[in-house]
Amino acid sequence: MQVYKVGGAVRDRLLGLPVTDVDRVVVGASTEEMLAKGFRPVGADFPVFLDPKTGEEYALARTERKSGRGYGGFTFYASPEVTLEEDLIRRDLTINAMAEDDQLNLTDPYHGQRDLEARILRHVSPAFAEDPLRVLRVARFAARYAGLGFTVADETMDLMRQLSESGELQALTAERSWKEISRALMEDRPQVFIQVLRDCGALKELMPEVDALFGVPQPETHHPEIDTGLHTLSVLEQSSLHKQPLTVRWACLLHDLGKGLTPEEEWPRHIAHEHTGLKLIKAVNERFKAPKDCQELALLVGQYHTHGHRALELKASTLLELLQSFDVYRRPQRFEEFIAACEMDARGRKGLEQRSYPQADYLRGAAKAAREVAVQPLLEQGLKGPELGEALKRERLKALKAYKEAATA
Ligand code: CTP
Repeated sequence: MQVYKVGGAVRDRLLGLPVTDVDRVVVGASTEEMLAKGFRPVGADFPVFLDPKTGEEYALARTERKSGRGYGGFTFYASPEVTLEEDLIRRDLTINAMAEDDQLNLTDPYHGQRDLEARILRHVSPAFAEDPLRVLRVARFAARYAGLGFTVADETMDLMRQLSESGELQALTAERSWKEISRALMEDRPQVFIQVLRDCGALKELMPEVDALFGVPQPETHHPEIDTGLHTLSVLEQSSLHKQPLTVRWACLLHDLGKGLTPEEEWPRHIAHEHTGLKLIKAVNERFKAPKDCQELALLVGQYHTHGHRALELKASTLLELLQSFDVYRRPQRFEEFIAACEMDARGRKGLEQRSYPQADYLRGAAKAAREVAVQPLLEQGLKGPELGEALKRERLKALKAYKEAATA
């Protein structure tokens, strides 16, 4: 039997990038032989084994046939007769369909190296269409390698468009989609992920609420880029430039969904978009079963981002309500993430990327002032239950009034 490294490990080594995950393919072996050599079988779906000593993954060379909709609808065929070329042709992109042996001899029947050099993401064969998740994968690779100059081949975009139009994307499970979306948002250029999905018609299928933002104008005085979709892409770009965590990036993507619902006759104004957007944010959150912290932050940022921008004008009582909504006393980190998302929103405007955002420190100071109100003296006065709550609120309001006066004097 022969063993080859395949997929991302070969691709990233040739690109001179660090290799984290190594996938290996075994040609000329049967399941029985692998078990006899002491490999441990894993994965219910495919003939994949773990090396008990190193924990590395070995998959038998296999061919795949689609037998139904979605990812469940797969049958595969693995046997010692399946060749390396047959295994590679069922893979997604030419740059992911290269193999190398221990001596670094490259097997590259589908010209992955040529495409690496030309900086092209190109599908290997029509078998690409057998797994619709690949539409998201290609968009994710585009987001990751855009900085190196990679773009998607026209014929691959055509195939992705056909897949999107066929409705096949609807058969993807929330878990598989979220894994791609969350990884893509953490790439260097997450905005490219959304842009590629939009260009091939997949965004309309996956997140019509985000797709609907393109072509929706905003007032030029505040938003020189005008288009809400372009603004969203810029906010996402800023979130990556500023190394924000996934929660913030997710909130950035969804913060303005309400603007897609504004009746045209009200354009370019979007009165109360913070509220109208909430049900859309909830729907997207639930569609992909986003983790709880992502869901929560997206909803809070959706509802309160304009409060963030107007922080310096807010009355002390409104500031207090804002802090209470975030439960800033027990969840200070979440409020910090809210501030970050607001700042990315402000910076995601054409020509205003470098403008300072004094609201951030002002909000931090307000949170600090409110959090510093001590409970102990109130307890010592014998207060408890709702009375204690009310007294605490009064003290915090007092602290915020003093803070506001001092900060804006
Ligand atoms: N693959 C595929 N279609 C998929 C998933 C995986 O063709 N839907 C193939 C590709 O050849 C890919 C390999 O399986 O290179 C390994 O997949 P995975 O580990 O998911 O991705 P990597 O290419 O290793 O990339 P990453 O760096 O994102 O992990």
